Amino acid sequence: MEKVKVLFVCLGNICRSPLAEAIFKDKIRRRNLDVYVEADSCGTANYHIGHSPDERTIKNALKNGVTIDHRGRQLADEDLDHYDFILVMDNSNHRNVLRLKNAEKYQHKISLMRVYDSTGRGKEVPDPYYGNESDFQEVFEILDRSTEQFIQHLEENHLKKFKA
Ligand code: 4NP
Repeated sequence: MEKVKVLFVCLGNICRSPLAEAIFKDKIRRRNLDVYVEADSCGTANYHIGHSPDERTIKNALKNGVTIDHRGRQLADEDLDHYDFILVMDNSNHRNVLRLKNAEKYQHKISLMRVYDSTGRGKEVPDPYYGNESDFQEVFEILDRSTEQFIQHLEENHLKKFKA
């Protein structure tokens, strides 16, 4: 059976979405779900193609026990077809994704990351780029909660078929 495919999207693909991807993959591995689920991240902008994530994101993630391994890439039209879940960090990312070719056809796949966060459901994941360490920590905690609850959603609604 095909894996469930998840794409995390932000603007630059150096702060929020590579962190979401790393936390998510860490949780998926710990639950031995990596045979059923794959994930990647990208940015809607082209500023950081091929770049490592922001040093502050890497350091903050390590402090929280998560290693990030990613190179920046830009969202492409084909991603809408390939992925099952396209989780955007904020409303601006959402609008940018909806500008891709044939986006209306794939609207059902696209949602805000925090629709899965019961503490602040439907809010944005704030951009920490111009912020300080406490902003990076806040983003970590938001993404830790959101990815945890997203995995619960996957387990309840999308992964049972693998375990039947
Ligand atoms: P991200 O944060 O979208 O969470 O990766 C940003 C990174 C870089 C820029 C903006 C946001 N930038 O303007 O370069």
